[in-house]
Amino acid sequence: MIIKPRTRGFICLTSHPDGTALNIKNQIDYVQSKGTIENGPKKVLVIGASTGFGISSRIAAAFGSGAATIGVFFEKPAAEGKPGTAGWYNSAAFEKEAHEAGLYAKSINGDAFSDEVKQQTIDLIKKDLGTIDLVVYSLASPRRTHPKTGVAYASVLKPIGQTFSNKTVDFHTGVVSDISINPIESQEDIDNTIAVMGGEDWKFWMEDLHNAGVLANGVKTVAYSYIGPELTFPIYRNGTIGQAKNDLEATTTTINSILKDVNGEAYVSVNKALVTQSSSAIPVVPLYISLLYKVMKEKGIHEGTIEQMYRLFNDRLYTTDGTIPLDNEGRIRVDDWEMRADVQEEVAKLWSQATTENLEQISDIQGYRDDFFNLFGFNFDAIDYEAETNEMVQVPSI
Ligand code: NAD
Ligand code: NA
Repeated sequence: MIIKPRTRGFICLTSHPDGTALNIKNQIDYVQSKGTIENGPKKVLVIGASTGFGISSRIAAAFGSGAATIGVFFEKPAAEGKPGTAGWYNSAAFEKEAHEAGLYAKSINGDAFSDEVKQQTIDLIKKDLGTIDLVVYSLASPRRTHPKTGVAYASVLKPIGQTFSNKTVDFHTGVVSDISINPIESQEDIDNTIAVMGGEDWKFWMEDLHNAGVLANGVKTVAYSYIGPELTFPIYRNGTIGQAKNDLEATTTTINSILKDVNGEAYVSVNKALVTQSSSAIPVVPLYISLLYKVMKEKGIHEGTIEQMYRLFNDRLYTTDGTIPLDNEGRIRVDDWEMRADVQEEVAKLWSQATTENLEQISDIQGYRDDFFNLFGFNFDAIDYEAETNEMVQVPSI
């Protein structure tokens, strides 16, 4: 079929298999250009492995460190004249490239929050790899069905305490407008968001993997968090999602005690703000990202998910002398360049100036758009979007 982008709000309903494959190939090329990650991981489980930071983690592990990888995700193949999801095509392309490079790569498509998918993953590890030495937890989801109680939770993106009013942008049209977001009405909004995006499911994974005896001595696990600038604090770090991130970060202590007898270590890495399917859903954040991109590109310090994940592996988790640099709260920081004072000062200045009229000049809104469409395999010069393509691409191991 011929596949064009079709968007609804911040969602792209279609994906292009050749464009997503090119996106994966570009990420692999980047990692290979950087060279081998010394002392890197060898058998890696990535939970949330199909898009954003998760697929980039999988690529960094496989092509930077020669790791065997198992990826868990929730994606859809093509059906009834509809293309598959971007994460489906990403995973198909990744496995094909990994297999051609002689690397083990298998995937599990299902609900990572469920006990069934956890058991399926354990069975696959036992059958093929024996043990895992790195578990990457990179899930982002708006809902979770609790595996023990069956309760379905939906997260919300709301401030706590008072209404938050600021600027936002529709990145398709470039229209900057004022937005007011009402605060939570009850503690339930916080509890639901923690239930979806907090640390409980990460803990369940590590408990189950540990009890099954499939974690190698010295295993590491890492989950991803975000802090960001003060101007997004009301909607992000001090809002409902921030409460979930606090919970996720606190879960490292619990997991460290679970992993004691295998000398395991749990970390949270605070990553940079980037265009992903999840971040485009957060109000105000796309305008911040488009200004941030402008400033960081001008300073020559811009990174995408693959640059971030290569740096996380090479300069943080697997350093030459084995020490992992941490902040005062025990977190890994690869948002260090985003949070530099000179970067934040310039973004804040641009933020106060931003209007519909000047946005194309003072921001990198076009870079935002390109990144957004690239996630779905669109806006690549090398792809002929008028041509027929085979949408029925399969993930080899599924
Ligand atoms: P993403 O939407 O690109 O990726 C989410 C992944 O989770 C996908 O692989 C998806 O298939 C998987 N997933 C979702 N629900 C699932 C389910 N029920 N079962 C199995 N798999 C499921 O998101 P992302 O932006 O890469 O986010 C990953 C993590 O990084 C999140 O914790 C996020 O908060 C964090 N983070 C994101 C940013 C950012 O700017 N995007 C910055 C810092 C930290
Ligand atoms: Na290293």
